[in-house]
Amino acid sequence: MSALDLIIKNADIATATESFIGDIGVRNGRIALLGDLGTGAARVIDAEQRLVTPGGVDAHCHLDQPMSDGSVMADDFSTGTVSAACGGTTTAIPFACQIRGQSVRAAVDDYHQRAHGKPVIDYAFHLIVTDPTPDVLERELPELIGEGYTHFKIYMTYDDLKLKDREILDVLALARREGALPMIHAENDDCIAWLTDILEEAGKIAPRFHSDARPPVIEREAAHRAISLAELIDVPVLIVHVSSNAAMSQIQKAQGRGIRIYAETCPQYLFLTADDLAAPGFEGAKCICSPPPRSVEDQMHIWRGLRTGVFQVFSSDHAPFSFDDPKGKRNAGQNAKFRAVPNGVPGIETRMPLLMSEGVLKKRIDIHQFVSLTATAPAKLYGLYPHKGTIAPGCDADLVIWDTNLDFVLTNGMLHHNVDYTPYEGMTLNAWPHIVLSRGDVIAKDGECQARPGRGRFHRSSSQLPVGLEHRKVA
Ligand code: URP
Ligand code: ZN
Ligand code: ZN
Repeated sequence: MSALDLIIKNADIATATESFIGDIGVRNGRIALLGDLGTGAARVIDAEQRLVTPGGVDAHCHLDQPMSDGSVMADDFSTGTVSAACGGTTTAIPFACQIRGQSVRAAVDDYHQRAHGKPVIDYAFHLIVTDPTPDVLERELPELIGEGYTHFKIYMTYDDLKLKDREILDVLALARREGALPMIHAENDDCIAWLTDILEEAGKIAPRFHSDARPPVIEREAAHRAISLAELIDVPVLIVHVSSNAAMSQIQKAQGRGIRIYAETCPQYLFLTADDLAAPGFEGAKCICSPPPRSVEDQMHIWRGLRTGVFQVFSSDHAPFSFDDPKGKRNAGQNAKFRAVPNGVPGIETRMPLLMSEGVLKKRIDIHQFVSLTATAPAKLYGLYPHKGTIAPGCDADLVIWDTNLDFVLTNGMLHHNVDYTPYEGMTLNAWPHIVLSRGDVIAKDGECQARPGRGRFHRSSSQLPVGLEHRKVA
């Protein structure tokens, strides 16, 4: 057997199920051995008893995604993946979005072009299906699913993206036939439009009214409808960026009835509230995202959902629009109506440190839950496991060696995204990745990227059926 390329010594290793102290031996970018391995390798990194987890899989982020309103995302595959790497994420899954009238294949080809030569970490694509024509349903999607694009997002809101219930049924039936996993953005569009009109007529156009236009009940109704449609078709679905106890309760009830509903939440629903939208002037636009941040009580319920397994996935939903940018949050003007402000908050770099610091170190969740939520479960659900998402012989050596004894104040200046703010400015954190490895390469050290642009590899979903998705290829 050839020698090891790298040994990470004295690691406090955590997976989704186990913890053990040991060394990690790496050969050809993959984990070759675990145990007491001595120092017989070309390179040795002493972890000095630090916590070592699998590299993060950020299963919901938006990078260089074309926007229909003329706004431009601040991060492309270069800055977005550098930022991800510095925060401990070694695989990103952004979205190849079909523009209505366009083929899904054209969106995928365009997105590969956008990524070309840029990523410093590995990546996969979700699709976004906005125009489920007969050709898309009968030819394009089956072909793409067969090629390993096995997961796609559909929207119940946004004029340029939303599907009608009838179209959702068609898409869910396709997913069941072909063995794909639909991800659903659940908000009731008619309610949002109706409330927005009423608010605007009353002159309530400031960022803080964004949350009044999208109260929890409209997320609850849409989550319930999405679950009902999925139950009718008998296909598993994943509800993305769940923000409220109201929507979470629907998911929990469905799971309790044995319906295969998966769910994702994001840092903005743990660390921001509707009050952040009410910051002076236009400042609240920084936190405009959909669904909006909720109440402190909702935050506590979302923590409960992470702890008790209602949520399988913790993603950033990084949707980067700079604040002082005529193509960013000010795309529709200096003090635009909330309805015209591009939706989304940045967070690809802070996702893992926030959950480590506020979740694991404050004992709201345990380390195995952390690993499962940030890496193992998303890798499984999106067909990247076992290459990604765990620490075991044969897996890619995607690893985070953590510093967990820190005490520092987060500032946007520390971050590597191309966004001019972080919504988490001023938070005190106790953890940050010390060293991040991707396929055995050190790609980030103490908050500095050390990776060559374009080294990231594209991964298709494996055709191996992940646990929980055995519906695939049901006739
Ligand atoms: O406000 C958000 N979440 N923007 C990103 C797009 C989406 O719906 O995930
Ligand atoms: Zn969404
Ligand atoms: Zn999103």
